[in-house]
Amino acid sequence: MKSESGPRALRSIAIIMDGNGRWARGRGLRRVEGHRAAETSIRESVKWCGEKGVEWLTLFAFSTENWSRPRSEVSFIMRLLSGFIQRNIDELDEERVKLLAMGRLAALPEGPGDDLRRAIGRTAGNDGLRLVLALNYGGRAEIADAAGKLASEAAQGRLDPAAIDEEAVSAALYLPGMPDPDLVIRTSGEQRFSNFMLWQAAYSELYFPEVLWPDFRREHLDQALEVYRSRQRRFGGLAPAGTR
Ligand code: FPP
Repeated sequence: MKSESGPRALRSIAIIMDGNGRWARGRGLRRVEGHRAAETSIRESVKWCGEKGVEWLTLFAFSTENWSRPRSEVSFIMRLLSGFIQRNIDELDEERVKLLAMGRLAALPEGPGDDLRRAIGRTAGNDGLRLVLALNYGGRAEIADAAGKLASEAAQGRLDPAAIDEEAVSAALYLPGMPDPDLVIRTSGEQRFSNFMLWQAAYSELYFPEVLWPDFRREHLDQALEVYRSRQRRFGGLAPAGTR
């Protein structure tokens, strides 16, 4: 489907996939089974975005703080990353999905890191949905890394410090050129950013459905779209006369 344009267009969605552990515990299962079950929700979200002409879907898969979880859970998620790529890469490629990642990727374990780099390379020429996996990602880390990059360019005389404006900072983030998310969804009823896209979400609409991530399906995205369409985005300005 063709992408939308105009102020109500939903070009970019970012999702904090929360509630996997609670979903599993609620079924008497180990927490990691919730992470395993997350794949269906991811696949369904990718399909829905493709159908609706959403251009960017960003998924918070592993944060810079998630290393503090038990080692067994961390390695399970890393194995899941490899498995997810292996199980889905052919279909994603066929659907013209371009896979991207953001975060401190060099610190990912070698196996999943290699699988990720190969998948990114394989889909680099695709022109469909940009699917971004946020991995070893933290919003503060991203801003700190951008500041470091800009400072080093300035120290080398390649950048005038006086020219560092918001655009320059945006361009120094992990994925320059990525549009800010129009809508940030966090499942499971929690209402926090948890260090996700702190710079980019400055004017994002926020939506917090109660559903746990492994139960998240296209009807929840339909609801999210409806809520998004009912919002009036003002970006710090005023509502157009007669609308409010
Ligand atoms: C939040 O649920 C989920 C995470 C911290 C990990 C997200 C990981 C996945 C969705 C699976 C990995 C997918 C890929 C593509 C690598 P939680 O564990 O914090 O749940 P809880 O709040 O109920 O405990």
